[in-house]
Amino acid sequence: MTEHSRPGHLATDSNRQRKILVTSALPYANGAIHLGHLVEYIQTDIWVRFQRMRGHAVVYVCADDTHGTPIMLRAEKEGLSPEALIDRVWHEHTRDFAGFAVSFDQYYSTHSPENKELSEQVYKGLKDAGLIEIRRIEQMYDPTKEMFLPDRFIKGDCPKCGAKDQYGDSCEACGATYSPTELKNPRSVVSGSTPIRKESDHHFFKLSDPRCFAFLRQWAITDERLQPEAANKLKEWLGESASDSAGLSDWDISRDAPYFGFEIPGAPGKYFYVWLDAPVGYYASLKKYCADHGLSFASFTAPDSEVEQYHFIGKDILYFHTLFWPAMLKFSGFRTPTNVFAHGFLTVDGAKMSKSRGTFITAQSYLEQALNPEWLRYYFAAKLNGSMEDLDLNLTDFIAKINSDLVGKYVNIASRCAGFITKRFDGQLDPRSLADTAHGLHQAITAAQPEIAAAYEQRDTARVVREVGALMDLVNGYVDSEKPWEIAKQSMTDTALLPRLHEICSRALKAFAQLTILLKPVLPLTAQRIEQEVFGLAGPLSWSDLAAPPIQSIKRFSHLMTRVDRERIDALIAANRESLG
Ligand code: 2FM
Ligand code: ZN
Repeated sequence: MTEHSRPGHLATDSNRQRKILVTSALPYANGAIHLGHLVEYIQTDIWVRFQRMRGHAVVYVCADDTHGTPIMLRAEKEGLSPEALIDRVWHEHTRDFAGFAVSFDQYYSTHSPENKELSEQVYKGLKDAGLIEIRRIEQMYDPTKEMFLPDRFIKGDCPKCGAKDQYGDSCEACGATYSPTELKNPRSVVSGSTPIRKESDHHFFKLSDPRCFAFLRQWAITDERLQPEAANKLKEWLGESASDSAGLSDWDISRDAPYFGFEIPGAPGKYFYVWLDAPVGYYASLKKYCADHGLSFASFTAPDSEVEQYHFIGKDILYFHTLFWPAMLKFSGFRTPTNVFAHGFLTVDGAKMSKSRGTFITAQSYLEQALNPEWLRYYFAAKLNGSMEDLDLNLTDFIAKINSDLVGKYVNIASRCAGFITKRFDGQLDPRSLADTAHGLHQAITAAQPEIAAAYEQRDTARVVREVGALMDLVNGYVDSEKPWEIAKQSMTDTALLPRLHEICSRALKAFAQLTILLKPVLPLTAQRIEQEVFGLAGPLSWSDLAAPPIQSIKRFSHLMTRVDRERIDALIAANRESLG
């Protein structure tokens, strides 16, 4: 294990360059990206951008999750081949992510030659390790459509409470969970016919094998790498004590034709279950990136790799990422993840996102309403604290927070001072004030820096936003008390006051540049405009520039950010309500 991959370790030596592979969960290729998805991509992107600003070498990969029955059936319904559907959705997804400044190094597809090859390699590795077993099982089968039915494609009456029209795995009325064979009056959602029971051979990954249990216990519990809530879940799934192999059942990794996916080598008509090749898709995307950039894929993925590997996910897929995926990697000869970071679900105005209420907001609709993507990045940052707690997008609070923090406090610093520099000092900042490291503003900002960096590292961006907010207050307090507008007025007749005006505005604008660095992982687009349009810098600001931002002048001060008004949010909700059709 490398120094930086030690659980709970924080980079203390910022001169040492870390190598880091980061992933966000792969979205399914049959639906639009919505604000619930964006929680994760924004959280990951902020972390990735922070690490890059610190000088670390990050590769951030993702892909569309393209296989499985729902995608196959969706394509059929749309009169398309699955390939045509996933190609279209790939373009929609990449457009939406770019719109929110999510900076993937590679956005690929699980329907790729790299993924086929790697999935086969993982399967073969597990087979060679004696961890694949073929068993005959009985499942529900649609005799009309001639296909086995996933639980979600069977509906019927709840066996417990009798509620009508319930899915094959659980009842939304009484909360009962059951197997689809227990449903009363079952019918296939695909054809409407009554499913029959049918046997077939399935390939299982023997997670019940003591080697898997021993490894997972070590990786997930003993090493203490996981978030506390995740660790508790793992203790529940694995059992509390080391001798207790209570939880793990073997995992069914095959599906019968017809299925959109990769056929299992040596098993005609059998396909890898989508959840087998989906996480392998992280590596397929990485492999593509390595090939395109002349990097060694093995240097990332071999058991002795020095690269840290982090997976950002939603809490609903913890099981796949903390049990199946590490075990798949371990027993097929790859390195295992350094950590898995899970976040909670998004609610809007305190309730589950709802199409009828218009709160199932798509990324595309947000951008089409010309809402600033960085408003959402900032709001999510303010809510995310590195835990698995759910987070709420309260629309009234959203408006208030953006207007008060970003427009009222942050941008306001520059609006209050930049004009005096351009009009009275030919755009030149005062070099002496810029160089002064003894001043209170400089001292306060640089003193807060390590704490803010640690908060980013721990994905506690709520703390970042609080700390930076306190610094904004400090800088605005300085401007309030120095009243540059009054000095500017007096200096029209008393030019001896000009140096004072120059000093105050230069100090405030230096602080503004420093706050821009501190917020840059969250607000990369605004930061870039400030670098280029306001300060006219040749290159991007990095974290190490906090000590002495390389600014000299103000090129021009353009409007950096507008206020959010209620009508635009109402229009967004209406657009999503209307889109129900
Ligand atoms: O839950 C989902 O949306 C899955 N498509 C996530 C896959 S993540 C990874 F394992 F591929
Ligand atoms: Zn019920």
